[in-house]
Amino acid sequence: MQDVRKRAKSNDKNVSERNIPKNNESNVNNNKIPTTQRNISLRIISRVVVIFSLLIVVYFSSKNDKVKTFAKQSELLPGKGLVVDCSLSYKEEVEKYEGCVPKECKRFITDKVISVREAEELLAIAKKGLQLGGSSGGASILDLHSGALSMGQHFVNIYKREDAKHIFSETDFNIYRVVKEKIKYAVAHHFGVKPNKIYLTHPTFFSEITSKKAVTMHDEYWHPHVDKETYKSFHYTTLLYLGDYNIDFKGGRFVFVDEKFNRTVEPRKARLSMFTSGRENLHYVEKVTSGNRYAMTISFTCDQQYAIQDPSINNI
Ligand SMILES: *[C@@H]1O[C@H](CO)[C@@H](O)[C@H](O)[C@H]1NC(C)=O
Repeated sequence: MQDVRKRAKSNDKNVSERNIPKNNESNVNNNKIPTTQRNISLRIISRVVVIFSLLIVVYFSSKNDKVKTFAKQSELLPGKGLVVDCSLSYKEEVEKYEGCVPKECKRFITDKVISVREAEELLAIAKKGLQLGGSSGGASILDLHSGALSMGQHFVNIYKREDAKHIFSETDFNIYRVVKEKIKYAVAHHFGVKPNKIYLTHPTFFSEITSKKAVTMHDEYWHPHVDKETYKSFHYTTLLYLGDYNIDFKGGRFVFVDEKFNRTVEPRKARLSMFTSGRENLHYVEKVTSGNRYAMTISFTCDQQYAIQDPSINNI
């Protein structure tokens, strides 16, 4: 022990001894440049450094201020909502339907309504259908109600195809119906409307987005849009994600476009996003850069004349 201490002491000595000539050297240099001039240039340099680091901090924080993550993929959200002012046109229109007027316009994200198991079963149904078709661009849809399936630059009716007649089972349609009902009750609950006053409407469909280049207008999902303007019958839009952002695909976040900054929803398997379909929820989907992004759009209307029936094995 003592030995070690001694050595340490002698090391200290060596260090300080070594430092002495260095200090002398710098003193010699100081004699060449006047001290005041040296201090001024040091001060200028340090100021420049401080200003630049401030600018860098401001630049990056302001960049991050423009887009906020509303729902992170890695988080299991019991429920997270944001109330927004209803757009005037939405409010005026929806007020005609008693029992269907939302308590407030908003977005609401929850990972607790649909189970991962249910999402996986839906994903298997979606893939079974979509593998028979596929858009020549990046975005394909499968609508189990009408049978619409993307094919090249057009759509075909999957139920008219011989090879499609037996791919969907009664169980598939049951799962679809159960999930749809759960989502309907979730909408009714969270928006404060009557479940028997909202109706499933067209289009309700599976979507598959790949990183392929767009060919037709249907492939261009990344333009900001208002659902109510695209589909007149919509009053409540819901999206059920069937895959995970940054795991199954890259890019493809959902973005609410707001005044001060945009808010992203990162897809997570079985994550349900619900929002009023008016201008208060202007949104787009970022381009998918790799992998396949699967989701389901389930839409509801207050107007019974636009109600659609559940898909069923009997309708095939
Ligand atoms: C939000 O996204 C839209 C559409 O991409 C864009 O035009 C707008 O500048 C973004 N807003 C902010 C604050 O970055």
